[in-house]
Amino acid sequence: MAINESDLAALDVAATRAKDFRRRMATADATPTADYDTIHARFDRPAPDEGFDASAVVEELVTGAEEGMRGLVAPRFYAWVNGSSHLAGVAADWLTSAWGQNCAGVPMSPAAAAVEAVAARWLLELLDLSPECSVGFVTGATVANFVGLAAARNEQLRKAGWNVEDDGLFGAPPVSVVIGADAHSTVFQALRYVGFGAKRVRTVATDSFGRMLVSDFERALKEADGPVVAIGQAGQINTGVSDPFAEIVPLVRQTDGWLHVDGAFGLWANVSKRHRHLLEGVELADSWATDGHKWLQTPYDCGFAICRNEAAHRRAMDLTASYLAPAGSHQRHPGAYVPELSRRARGFATWAMIRRLGRNGIAQMVDEDVRLAKLMAASLAEIDGVEVVNQPELNQFVVRFGADRGADEGDRLTLATIERIQQDAVAYLGSSLWHDRWVMRVSVCSIQTTEDDALLTVQAIKDAWQAVQDAT
Ligand SMILES: Cc1ncc(COP(=O)(O)O)c(C=O)c1O
Repeated sequence: MAINESDLAALDVAATRAKDFRRRMATADATPTADYDTIHARFDRPAPDEGFDASAVVEELVTGAEEGMRGLVAPRFYAWVNGSSHLAGVAADWLTSAWGQNCAGVPMSPAAAAVEAVAARWLLELLDLSPECSVGFVTGATVANFVGLAAARNEQLRKAGWNVEDDGLFGAPPVSVVIGADAHSTVFQALRYVGFGAKRVRTVATDSFGRMLVSDFERALKEADGPVVAIGQAGQINTGVSDPFAEIVPLVRQTDGWLHVDGAFGLWANVSKRHRHLLEGVELADSWATDGHKWLQTPYDCGFAICRNEAAHRRAMDLTASYLAPAGSHQRHPGAYVPELSRRARGFATWAMIRRLGRNGIAQMVDEDVRLAKLMAASLAEIDGVEVVNQPELNQFVVRFGADRGADEGDRLTLATIERIQQDAVAYLGSSLWHDRWVMRVSVCSIQTTEDDALLTVQAIKDAWQAVQDAT
């Protein structure tokens, strides 16, 4: 059957509308003009009995949904740690869909498997990790944390004489899990997935910025009974700081433990000559989780689960089926390192972004985002009543408003100022709890953000804070 030209034309409609959107977004604030209820009402009709022309479907989707898009790709978006879905990555991602490739195995898509293999090697080079490591291309850091912890669990129990792959966890020797008190919530989620439980952990005390205290980490390891899985982080979600890997790795080694690192965005500091000292020793860990859709700027969904012990990684994730031919002995089987079978070929967008930016481009972006975060923090610190809780060493920092008027009043004024900033819609910032107090979190994680954007944002924050004070 010949291709349906009318369906084919939908790709042009999508390209035209996407280009319009991205042109507008390049200078826009990040605020949608329609809310959830409006968009929901537009789409909320009975499931259609009859089909519709593909181009018209795309038009209907764009017309109905676009006003409800948060500008995650806009230059003054700082609320969550989001990359900007760079257009080179988007184009590769579109092709991934158009090619309809399933990266479940080499025979299923030789190109997807081969490009993913090269992208995996490039990632290890850029992140300065051993070329012996294995890489699984997953949806994001949450699943990458799950994969790393599953490999850690199985390997630590295997060394203790227990085979999780065959026998599961019932009756297995207890594993001691050691984790910093300021770890990201998705790591606790991953602990639930692997059957460790989010609360059955030894929590290590942290300093005021969220770094694990080495003395308490050492104590936790001494108290540990049985196999040890320790979890560190490169890039705390609020303050951007990293654990002191050079000091904690040798301690983990002494216990024959496994150190997993959540480096969702922070691991990318290793690409930068100027900032890699912040992660010193991170390369000595056993597994790492990081994202493409943060500081590599790929579109969603794109994360990487990296393991030093490839065999452990494979044992935890590999899947065989009679109808799936194995990869050749010199070929990398892409399905060996991930929890799912059918899967988007994420290697294309990863390859495209690394090819587009190169090592130097990625390093420059990291350095520039850090410079802008420092500039914003320093400018905000000069404003009366504004407390910059941590001067950033990386791209993340948190701010409180009116904290000098008491902790509760500071909470109220902080939330009121964030609300005002969101209403003014020059920049988009959000709230977070930091050590039980409300803060405004600033994450500079986009290649789109310029110094002009940073200065505009500082002015918008200043104006909002003034308006809140005037109203009080
Ligand atoms: C430190 C950290 N870990 C894990 C995650 C989860 O990543 P993802 O949303 O890609 O699953 C995030 C997301 O912001 C993060 O910042």
